[in-house]
Amino acid sequence: MAKTKTAFFCQNCGAQYAKWVGQCTSCKQWNTVVEEVIQKEEKTNWRSVSNATPRTSKPLRINEIDPGNEIRWDTGNTEFNRVLGGGLVAGSLTLLGGEPGIGKSTLLLQMALKLPFTSLYVSGEESQRQIKMRAERIHPASTNCYVLTETKTQNIFQHIARLVPDLVIIDSIQTLHSDYIDSSAGSISQIRECTAELIKFAKESHTPVILVGHITKDGSLAGPKILEHMVDTVLQFEGDRNYVYRILRSLKNRFGSTSELGIYEMLGDGLREVNNPSEILISNTDEGLSGAAVAATMEGMRPLLIEIQALVSSAVYGTPQRSATGFNAKRLNMLLAVLEKRAGFKLAAKDVFLNITGGITVDDPAIDLAVVAAILSSNADLPIEKGVCFAAEIGLAGEIRPVQRIDQRIVEAEKLGFSMVFVSKNNKIGVKRSKIAIQQVAKIEEVVAHLFG
Ligand code: TYD
Ligand code: MG
Repeated sequence: MAKTKTAFFCQNCGAQYAKWVGQCTSCKQWNTVVEEVIQKEEKTNWRSVSNATPRTSKPLRINEIDPGNEIRWDTGNTEFNRVLGGGLVAGSLTLLGGEPGIGKSTLLLQMALKLPFTSLYVSGEESQRQIKMRAERIHPASTNCYVLTETKTQNIFQHIARLVPDLVIIDSIQTLHSDYIDSSAGSISQIRECTAELIKFAKESHTPVILVGHITKDGSLAGPKILEHMVDTVLQFEGDRNYVYRILRSLKNRFGSTSELGIYEMLGDGLREVNNPSEILISNTDEGLSGAAVAATMEGMRPLLIEIQALVSSAVYGTPQRSATGFNAKRLNMLLAVLEKRAGFKLAAKDVFLNITGGITVDDPAIDLAVVAAILSSNADLPIEKGVCFAAEIGLAGEIRPVQRIDQRIVEAEKLGFSMVFVSKNNKIGVKRSKIAIQQVAKIEEVVAHLFG
């Protein structure tokens, strides 16, 4: 009988050790290293291999390789297709990560129910009846979706061999286990083995496979960084659970760009694709409210108009409070210091609260000017005229700096009916626009004069 061999693995990053250590030396996490049984491997060296094995692939000159026709499956979900770079690639492995309860299972089941071809949804977390109940909520349309509750990979492959599905969904990789490995489901060696088996299946049968992966407290994909290296595409489903909007991002994509993103709205009957996100992120009140300003930002490659709200009030305590939701608090402090120093506003005795509506987080510096405008508007209690938006960064000297992709931002603002956009004087504008007035400014004072002067 083969001697069982064990090794110690960090459950956070997958680093392997010969003996137990308290702190993982590669990811610096404490108490994450546990012992796992691994299969006894047969030692091979390149000499023994080079004499024996029949060659199944041989080196080719780069210009001799036939690129072939990359087959992409339309998933019937435009946002999902966009994030994937145009659809699922045959034989690809996609990993979908996200916090519990964010809607990963819903997204995949909904997609499977829309597909015109056979899909197999394997769940290790929910029973078939639970999945049926979920499917009832999102109105089933397809009868080609098979549901299987199973956690052993060997059994799953048996069912796949009989059913021959065109798409396999595994919910989730952490619940799978393989007979070839002795450790418990969810451990690093199990995840690695099960993923490797699925990759082999996907590449050999040209079937796309989608895996659901859990996420840890600090937001990285649970356990294995190794998973991210093994799969072709890593998607992240994120959002604030208290809000209805969800963002699907691609973190790694071997078949497309990683700057695309998809936006969904979680409704009572499943996820709705949001094709025009700007409309829902801007409140449609007719009377002007002080302290609100609209910024033309970019999320990945998509222009997005978002509303920023600020509340400035007298500080009750000695140290004024500053609080920001969806915006970097350090950046808010920096902008306040710039306002104090360069524009002479006495904000040191004021509490400042900032909020980006819709529960989204933005780190595009182009929203600086809108943040400043919202703060000034709340401070003066004067609303900003309707139809005005902003797209510029603010420098430490109080100068208004250019931002990238200004043309796309302007076009989006015009499309949504905005009548004026404030941009930096130094931004080169390529587009000619007739309906939207472009105000090019160099200093904060000029903006103040325009808005409240
Ligand atoms: P789920 O897909 O189970 O999340 P995950 O697989 O990422 O853990 O989503 C669960 C949440 O979504 C749950 O809190 C209920 C909500 N939901 C809706 O609001 N509408 C729906 O139609 C469905 C199916 C779920
Ligand atoms: Mg789930």
